[in-house]
Amino acid sequence: MQRIPVKEVLSTDPSGQQITVMGWVRSFRSNRFIALNDGSCLGNLQVVVDFEQFDEALLKRVTVGAALSVSGSLVPSQGSGQRQELQCSSIEILGDCDPGVYPLQPKKHSLEFLRQIAHLRFRTNTFGAIFRIRHQIAFAIHEFFHNRGFYYMHSPIITASDAEGAGEMFRVTTLDLHNPPRTENGQPDFSQDFFGRSAHLTVSGQLEGELAALALSKIYTFGPTFRAENSNTPRHLAEFWMIEPEVAFADLNSNMDLAEGLLKFVIGKILSVCEEDLKFLHDREVEEEKTKPQNERSEMNLLERLRFCVDHDFVRLSYTEAIDILRNSNPNKKGKFQFPVEKWGTDLQSEHERYLVEKHFKKPVILTDYPKEIKAFYMRQNEDGKTVAAMDILFPGIGEIVGGSQREERLELLERRMEEMHIPAEEMYWYLDTRRFGSCPHAGFGLGFERLVLFITGMNNIRDVIPFPRFPGNAEF
Ligand code: 4AD
Ligand code: MG
Repeated sequence: MQRIPVKEVLSTDPSGQQITVMGWVRSFRSNRFIALNDGSCLGNLQVVVDFEQFDEALLKRVTVGAALSVSGSLVPSQGSGQRQELQCSSIEILGDCDPGVYPLQPKKHSLEFLRQIAHLRFRTNTFGAIFRIRHQIAFAIHEFFHNRGFYYMHSPIITASDAEGAGEMFRVTTLDLHNPPRTENGQPDFSQDFFGRSAHLTVSGQLEGELAALALSKIYTFGPTFRAENSNTPRHLAEFWMIEPEVAFADLNSNMDLAEGLLKFVIGKILSVCEEDLKFLHDREVEEEKTKPQNERSEMNLLERLRFCVDHDFVRLSYTEAIDILRNSNPNKKGKFQFPVEKWGTDLQSEHERYLVEKHFKKPVILTDYPKEIKAFYMRQNEDGKTVAAMDILFPGIGEIVGGSQREERLELLERRMEEMHIPAEEMYWYLDTRRFGSCPHAGFGLGFERLVLFITGMNNIRDVIPFPRFPGNAEF
């Protein structure tokens, strides 16, 4: 007999049909009711066992976490709480699970504890829901771009260019660390390394994405990126996934429209296709909120926040306008910011971003036209000589979720900016070639995938929305 996924069984009309289901035991009550879960959905199938029909030794092995194959007839449930149940006629133990040592007993575990057993946490309701939603988000992103004529471009993971300046990089090498070949001045000689030069893990696929966009018009990348910054925060990972669309013949406004459209599409999609898992995470958050003092509770619950994002236009304003708002804000005047906002030109800290989004506008915000000094070399310079055509999207509870810009397509201006920022133009000849040969206005952005998953699932720590988080001091599993 073929296995039927629990998800399918739970949406089937029970009429006594014979079926086989395989899954893991979530609970076994009164030597009679097995809750069986196979991860295809949140719900369990209730398997009813007539213990007189089974060997006692076999039933003893039906423990939490054990893998079973059960067969029987699907009938309308006698009890409340489920529509159907499986009247069990045979049980095969596929894998035992010793309750004496199994760490995941059916009780409430803290997220911190579950992070330490990340290899097992998939088996909890919370992480099952998160990772099913994570999949649907990835799928929705591909759907969005595919339906709009974008081509999925695979940017390299190992790169020899380190010009992006987005963050510290991890070196990729096969040199013997104890005894590397050395140059005349005693430095490791990377010309003798695997690639014949120094190589790193990519921090962004953008520069390669631009090369493709200047031929295919509309591309996006969706891949892992790596940053060796020592950021121990609930929003940073050393390995995270990024979506980077790049569009030829586009300016900053169309870039913002694209990013806002993408976020709304994906959130709207998840609201409709992940109803059960979202409701579970929603209820979980509601319970957690109850344990907090009134003034620390969020104003909107998870489902309200998601709907709000889909239904409202994001606020768009310039960095300069934002600085004015922040300078005159109550927390700034009362010295409540850790980094007081004084002069134009300073970078915004996450406390400032969150003030704008959560307190001032109470909406997602797109900030544009940042000072050129605090942004990357490739951003298009504005007429004022001081700012660049950059945009960051800030989300409640998250801060920056998207960073992007219109790109500098004018060769001379780009070369001048690279010189000012000490970026070696010779090594970047391939990038500059796009400006030499048929350059055109173009724009793009990077969306942090885990930050989006974090927002949609309502979790508080980015380490809980990627299966195996990498951060300073941790590369377990
Ligand atoms: O703002 P960032 O550094 O932009 C770039 O890398 C550009 N090349 C993107 C582009 O224009 N194509 O990163 C983009 C986004 C951020 O807004 C944030 O959501 C996410 O990537 N991000 C991180 N997510 C998790 N952990 C980290 N350490 C992150 N750093 C950035
Ligand atoms: Mg950024």
